Amino acid sequence: MTATVEEHFEATVAADQRIEPRDWLPDAYRKTMIRQIAQHAHSEIIGMQPEGNWITRAPSLRRKAILLAKVQDEAGHGLYLYSAAETLGADRTELTELLISRRQKYSSIFNYPTLTFADVGVIGWLVDGAAICNQVPLCRSSYGPYARAMIRICKEESFHQRQGYELLMTMMRGTPEQQAMVQEATNRFWWPSLMMFGPPDGDSPNTAQSMAWKIKRHTNDDLRQRFVDMSVPQAEALGVTLPDPLLAWNEDRGHYDFGPIDWSELKRVIAGDGPCNAERVERRRRAHEDGAWVREAASVHAAKESER
Ligand code: ACO
Repeated sequence: MTATVEEHFEATVAADQRIEPRDWLPDAYRKTMIRQIAQHAHSEIIGMQPEGNWITRAPSLRRKAILLAKVQDEAGHGLYLYSAAETLGADRTELTELLISRRQKYSSIFNYPTLTFADVGVIGWLVDGAAICNQVPLCRSSYGPYARAMIRICKEESFHQRQGYELLMTMMRGTPEQQAMVQEATNRFWWPSLMMFGPPDGDSPNTAQSMAWKIKRHTNDDLRQRFVDMSVPQAEALGVTLPDPLLAWNEDRGHYDFGPIDWSELKRVIAGDGPCNAERVERRRRAHEDGAWVREAASVHAAKESER
């Protein structure tokens, strides 16, 4: 007896194999996958802004070259991800429209300002560290094009994390002012980094279904805990204090306990009321509009080529 398309889909997911663009898939799976990939792509593209802010002010040619490479990588990640979304039938122009009209989300973390050069280091260490923690398991996500994009993205994210940590190590060997700058940036980014993993499991509408489809491989809270456990020894090695008086090793659980997260802040930032939401989206909208002539020229050129 031949399997129905539904059975084929279920069996592929159950066997931990990949769903490919040619395969039949449920509408709700397609919708969820487009939502997650688009939000991820938007995050990479908007994520260029906070650090791009420091390219012209990097303190040396070496730091500037590293930062330029990193911000270019983010653009590349966004493009892979938009391409992955297109394999599901999404249209990249429409996705961009949804972003700039604020009908689709991007990561809350990119709505915080980058006030000092230490922020570049802390973003590499904590923000890219959190991104790796969240994205390495996504290399085993059930949708093939997304999982494969994630492999390359994670390799590059790992370079981003290391450049940030190395920058902070250098600053911590510097003057008391530089050390204070690292501590102050850590204080500002710690809690928003924990929020990157999303709402707590009990308050996460999408986790159960995404886990059943093996789109997500771990829950938000599991990944958040993994990130805290990973970050505490890194903070110690660096010589900074994480801004949480309740952070303590729990022998019974075999994990660090940590203090309560202000979920109202995450809700506010996701709803558009973070310190930089308006500025980030406006800048993206302007860049899109400024690029209209390039898109137009490219399509006229492509049409002429195909006529020839
Ligand atoms: N910032 C903005 N929105 C968020 C965040 C966040 N930190 N966390 C959760 N949300 C949104 C979800 O998108 C969802 O909204 P929607 O249903 O309207 O689309 C809602 O809040 C509820 O959250 P969940 O049910 O937990 O949603 P989900 O199962 O999609 O989990 C998560 C959220 C963990 C972010 C998941 O989508 C994911 O792993 N995405 C891929 C990674 C990614 O996008 N990273 C971007 C930042 S890293 C970087 O770019 C360097």
